[in-house]
Order: sequence, then C-alpha cells, then structure tokens
Amino acid sequence: MLKISRVSRTKEEASQNYDRLSRLYDLFASSEKKFTDFGLEMLAVQSGESVLEIGFGTGHALLKLARAAHPAIVNGIDISKKMRIVAERKLRRAGLKNAIRLKTGDAAKLPYDNFQFDAIFISFTLELFDTPEMPFVLQECYRVLKPGGRLGVVALKKECRAIHVYEWFHEKMPTFVDCRPIYAKESIEDVGFQITKNKKMTMWGLPVDILLAKK
Ligand SMILES: C[S@@+](CC[C@H](N)C(=O)[O-])C[C@H]1O[C@@H](n2cnc3c(N)ncnc32)[C@H](O)[C@@H]1O
Repeated sequence: MLKISRVSRTKEEASQNYDRLSRLYDLFASSEKKFTDFGLEMLAVQSGESVLEIGFGTGHALLKLARAAHPAIVNGIDISKKMRIVAERKLRRAGLKNAIRLKTGDAAKLPYDNFQFDAIFISFTLELFDTPEMPFVLQECYRVLKPGGRLGVVALKKECRAIHVYEWFHEKMPTFVDCRPIYAKESIEDVGFQITKNKKMTMWGLPVDILLAKK
C-alpha cells in the first residue's frame, strides 16, 4: 500500500483556516497559478459544457472555466464561505456574476446529480482530504460525471518513500501547512478512471502532477 501523510485537522478547522486566508490567498499562492493554468489547458473545457470545480478558492480557475464554458453555467463547491465571497466578487468584477453557481460545503459528499457534468476540475485541493476519504471524493466525482466525462487534477506529487521537508511541516503544523503530496494518479485509477494525460512539473523543488482522466 502506498503511504502518505494523514490529515489531522478537522473540517471545521479547514473551513476556518481558509476563511482566514481568503483575503490574502491570491498574494501568497500566486506561484501556484501557473500549474492551475496548465491543468485548465489540459482539461480544455468547451463552450456549452457543464463543469464543476471542487475547492475553487478565490476563483482564479473559476473565472477561466466560466469564460470557456459560456453560455453554460459553471458550478463550484468550497468548504470556506469567505473564499466563496472573494470568488463571487472576482467573477462579478469580470461581468460573470451570472455565469457561476457556487455552494459552500464539504466536497466529500457532492450535492449534485448522477451524470451531471462533462468535466470536473480540482486544483491543489485533493491533497486536503484525509487518506481514507480520498477514494470517496474520487468516487463522487465518478458518480456525477457523464459517461466519457473528464476529470482534471493538479496536485502535489508524492514521489519517493522519504519524507520531504514540506511533509514534515505538514505533520508538525497541520493547520499552517494544509497540503501534503499524494499519489493522485494511482488514486484516480483505483476508482475506475483512465488517465489520458499526465504532465509532471516542479514547484519550489516539489513535484506537481497535472492529470487528465476519463470516465
Ligand atoms: C489550497 S486551496 C486551492 C484553491 C484553488 N483551487 C487554487 O488552486 O487556487 C484549497 C481550497 O479547497 C477548499 N477546501 C478544503 N477542504 C475542502 C473540502 N473538504 N471540501 C470543499 N472544499 C475544500 C479550501 O477552502 C480552499 O479554497
């Protein structure tokens, strides 16, 4: 069995942390945007497609998804109410207020119908679910995607058995360093998806997986 660090903080703490981070998140996470953009490019959402973003944060990807899917409305779910407020403001300023439908909630159980979406995007969020919960999150993605639907994932990649300094911080300060590297490709395949594209990049010495999977 492939071993990754566990998540020790609660969902309540996650929601509070991201509420606190929401106003400054764009500043300190600016280096992540390039990877998110590669993921969006790989997912290649087309006009009219029904799309869901899980963990939309401040709405960086949501904005691009809304433009690509127009005239279809893009759905999003995030556990932090304040992230939702920041994302909604960003979309409103871009004149895309009516192009999105956002929910505040835990994506471990998706409040959407079976076979609802053509595409799902998850950027730097799959890593936040605890190890036993990750398969359920991915099964939920499988359930709400249409046959042949696409899943785009951008995630920190666990590469070797050694504990990276980043994981050490995650274990010692779980509310401060929330993400940890995961075996995203293997986890996605385990629930029945077929990986169709996989690009590996590096961020501050940490490997990042950009993945496209098909139902
Ligand atoms: C590291 S941020 C990434 C934000 C955005 N995807 C990006 O790439 O900039 C993780 C986001 O996932 C959200 N999140 C954390 N746990 C979640 C959960 N259980 N369900 C839904 N969203 C969650 C957080 O509130 C936060 O907005």
